[in-house]
Amino acid sequence: MLRILRLVLPIVLILWVFRQVRKPSGPLGRRVVQAMNLGHATMTDWGLQQVMVPKNAVILDVGCGGGRTVRRLAALAPEGKIVGLDYSAASVAVSRETNVQDIENGRVRIEQGSVAALPFPDRTFDIVTAVETHYYWPDLPANVREILRVLKPGGTFALIAETYRGGPFRLVYGIVMPLIRAAFLSDAEHRDLLTQAGFTEVATKHVSGKNWICATGRRPS
Ligand SMILES: C[S@@+](CC[C@H](N)C(=O)[O-])C[C@H]1O[C@@H](n2cnc3c(N)ncnc32)[C@H](O)[C@@H]1O
Repeated sequence: MLRILRLVLPIVLILWVFRQVRKPSGPLGRRVVQAMNLGHATMTDWGLQQVMVPKNAVILDVGCGGGRTVRRLAALAPEGKIVGLDYSAASVAVSRETNVQDIENGRVRIEQGSVAALPFPDRTFDIVTAVETHYYWPDLPANVREILRVLKPGGTFALIAETYRGGPFRLVYGIVMPLIRAAFLSDAEHRDLLTQAGFTEVATKHVSGKNWICATGRRPS
């Protein structure tokens, strides 16, 4: 019995974590989101360095999780406005805690909603970011077109992620990503995704020895 438990428990735990990163929920989900704030920090900062952020930019972070990216964007655009959006109530709650000061001073707003139907008018944002989230979106091509819709002409989309198909550690990710039903795109597929959605000046960047990708595109003027 003990032997079976030893075998089953780690599998249950791993499946639970996979579910939580897709849509964090409840008090434990909040802990997962707080851990992601720490775990994704270095990669996020590298990704944001690939984007020119004007100090008065109006920015949306889709799938904002625990809100650390929103806080970073608020620091990069000290005269701007930042909106974080996530479909998980747990993520929204933690994100609001992380950004409490900037919410109070009116520079940051955190909203609950899905990338599938962004609750914003056309041409609202100068920049849209999405960190470690696109793997889980319900319809990637349509969702990226939805991001294009809310960007101003000339605005920038930056998709930042910890893994892509064909990068280092391909064996592990090649098993894990299909298991958790996560989109696992190659470098070229990331570029095609943005180009086919209507973005121009599409480019991808990587860091030697890491599995990171930052795909950027501009909404035509
Ligand atoms: C792995 S977490 C990453 C969170 C954060 N961006 C970070 O880097 O720490 C993925 C986040 O995307 C959110 N998410 C997944 N699908 C979404 C969707 N369709 N619309 C909005 N948010 C979504 C999840 O709720 C979760 O908070």
